[in-house]
Parts: sequence; structure tokens; C-alpha cells
Amino acid sequence: MEIKSVQLKNFRNYENESVVFKNGLNILEGKNAQGKTNLLEAVFLCAIGKSPRTNKEKELIKWNENFGKITVEFLKSSGNKKIELYLFSNQNKAIKINGVPIKKLGELMGELNAIYFSPDELKLVKESPEERRRFMDIDLCQFNKNYFYALSKYNKILNQRNKLLKSGNINSIKETISIWNEQLSEQACYIILKRLELIEQLKVFAKQSHFYLTDNLEEMNLSYVGLTDTEKSVLKEKLLKLYDESLEKDLNLGYTTVGPHRDDIKIMVNNIDIRHFGSQGQQRSCALSLKLAELEIFKSNLGEYPVLLLDDVLSELDENRREKLLKIINNFQTILTCTEYNLNLPANVLKISNGKVV
Ligand SMILES: Nc1ncnc2c1ncn2[C@@H]1O[C@H](COP(=O)(O)OP(=O)(O)OP(=O)(O)O)[C@@H](O)[C@H]1O
Ligand SMILES: [Mg+2]
Repeated sequence: MEIKSVQLKNFRNYENESVVFKNGLNILEGKNAQGKTNLLEAVFLCAIGKSPRTNKEKELIKWNENFGKITVEFLKSSGNKKIELYLFSNQNKAIKINGVPIKKLGELMGELNAIYFSPDELKLVKESPEERRRFMDIDLCQFNKNYFYALSKYNKILNQRNKLLKSGNINSIKETISIWNEQLSEQACYIILKRLELIEQLKVFAKQSHFYLTDNLEEMNLSYVGLTDTEKSVLKEKLLKLYDESLEKDLNLGYTTVGPHRDDIKIMVNNIDIRHFGSQGQQRSCALSLKLAELEIFKSNLGEYPVLLLDDVLSELDENRREKLLKIINNFQTILTCTEYNLNLPANVLKISNGKVV
């Protein structure tokens, strides 16, 4: 996977700019607040249809404008592709792939494969399970459009089930809850089974990456926290039983307390739960190992490496880890932001100043 060019029209602080990328290492160098992260955000938005920074699409359009556009041209093993993403202040975004408008966001999934890594990603290890679920979901959506559709359906049904629970209308709940349970458990099974497959792969690659980063000193182990049955019928039966058992609690709280929307990944290093007991440095290394593992999973599932978007991460890593990361990124296209590029590696250096490549 190789991005050839990105064009931005009224996107964040870019008015009208075209950026050409090369294979290998690309550096976006510039002072603070010039538009480096904005450019990575534009690329990732075209990969997964969502910004890593905001859910409010309007914020992405240049101030005082009511229309914005991102165009990304890239080369995949299957050929040249072009994604055009239009942003409007008064309506939802629109997307074209190779000039053809898509009807559903799911159609975008898996077209442009990218991994985004910023210092914020430390959250991945340290913070709430939501971050780790998002991590799994973003990858699975890129691998498999059906996962995206299952997840969307799941969230819709979950919302409706929660509304019903909140309504407090006992008669209506008694009458209809089993219908919601049936529908919810169908999507839940699909989601859980796909996540379990992912964790099986991730486990192996993360362990390898972590040994590499820590000179074989730390053994990293991942496991899925939630139901882990790999037989759909067993899984479904257990889910339905859990819905029944937690109904009273769910009624009191007004939302569904069991299912994949509550699951997590447990990260252990040398048998210690790193989320609760790891040092900052260990948590940082684990986040990096997960990201490196992600690269390998993309390669093994899709046959080619994704584009790696590294926002400001070099300054966050000690020299040893930085060197190790830089050794790996030779293998694929990387776009890396920094305030000053002083490494001895050949790279396509692009200087960014006030929303322009100078
Ligand atoms: N919708 C928008 N319209 C115009 N400018 C915006 C918009 N959203 C953000 N900006 C501006 O874009 C500028 C650049 O942001 P960006 O996050 O890309 O900086 P950066 O180069 O990554 O800086 P840093 O090195 O501090 O991370 C910021 O000053 C911000 O105020
Ligand atoms: Mg930035």
C-alpha cells in the first residue's frame, strides 16, 4: 500500500494544498500548530471514515467555509485507487471511490489501509476498555466490511434495547425483550467470534514485537475479557442466559450491562497486569508492541502492509525503542510528523508551515 498524493481543500487549516508522497519514509516537519497532525488526520479519515480526533465532522472544515474535500490517491496490490471525501457544514459527508459515490460507509472499509499512532495511543493500554475495543474494531472493520455492518447493527439494536429498558414499561418489556435479545445476540456472536480470531493472531505478533522491543526481557500476553467460546451455538446460549440473569440489574440501570460492548483485552507482561501495575515506560512499550503487531496482522490478513501514520511518537520514545521502531519502518510506507528532523535516515522531507507545504 502506497499513498501517492493527498489533496486538501478547506480541510482544517489547509485552504488548497497538494502533497506528493514517496514510498518508504516521509517526514512532515514543522513548528507546532502548522498542520502536521491535520494532514495525518485527513489520511486516516479516508481510511476509516472517522477522524481519530473528533466525531464532529463540521470541525474538520476550514473555519468560515461550508465545504471541504480530501482526495487521496494510492497504489494497492490490486491497482491504483482514488478516494474523495466531501465534507459539508449542513449535511453528512459524501465519499467516492474511483469516482463512484458509495451508498454506505461500510463500502469504504478496507480500501485504504492505515494505522495511526500518536502519543495519545498510550490510552490504549492505560485507560478504559473502550479504547481497547475501539482498537479491535478499527482493525476488524478494515479487514472485513461485514464486521462493520454487524457492529453498526449491534449498536442500533443495543440502543433500542436500552431505550426499552429505560422506558420502565414492564408490560412492553416483558412482551418484547426476548425479540431484542435474539437480535442482539446474533450480532454479538459475530462480533465476539471475529474479535477472538483477532486476539489469537494479535497475541502471537504482540509477543514477538514485545520481545524485540525489550531485548527478550518482557513476555507480553494478551487475552480477551468476555465470553470466549468459539462455538457459535454455545456462545449464543450463554449470551441469552446472561441477558436473563442481568435483566433486573439492567432495568435498574436503564442499559444493557452484558455483551461485547463491555468486553476488553487484558494485557499482561511477565504475568503482571500492565494496565494497573505497569510503569509508564512499560505501558508505552506495550502500546508500541500492539501497533507493531497490528502491522503484521494487516500484512498477514491482506497480503500487504498498511500505511503507517506516526504522529509525534519519536519524541515519546527512548533512544533504544526509537532505533528499533526506525529499523522496522523501512519495510513499508510511513508518514511521520516531527518538529525537527535530525535522523540519519534517507527520507522524503516535507516542510509544513501554516497549512502549506513549503
Ligand atoms: N477547522 C479548522 N479551521 C482552521 N484551522 C483549524 C481548524 N481546526 C484546527 N485548526 C488549526 O490547525 C492548526 C494546526 O493543527 P495541527 O494539529 O495539525 O498542528 P501540528 O502541526 O500537528 O502541531 P503540533 O506540533 O503542536 O502537534 C492549529 O493551530 C489549529 O488551530
Ligand atoms: Mg500535531
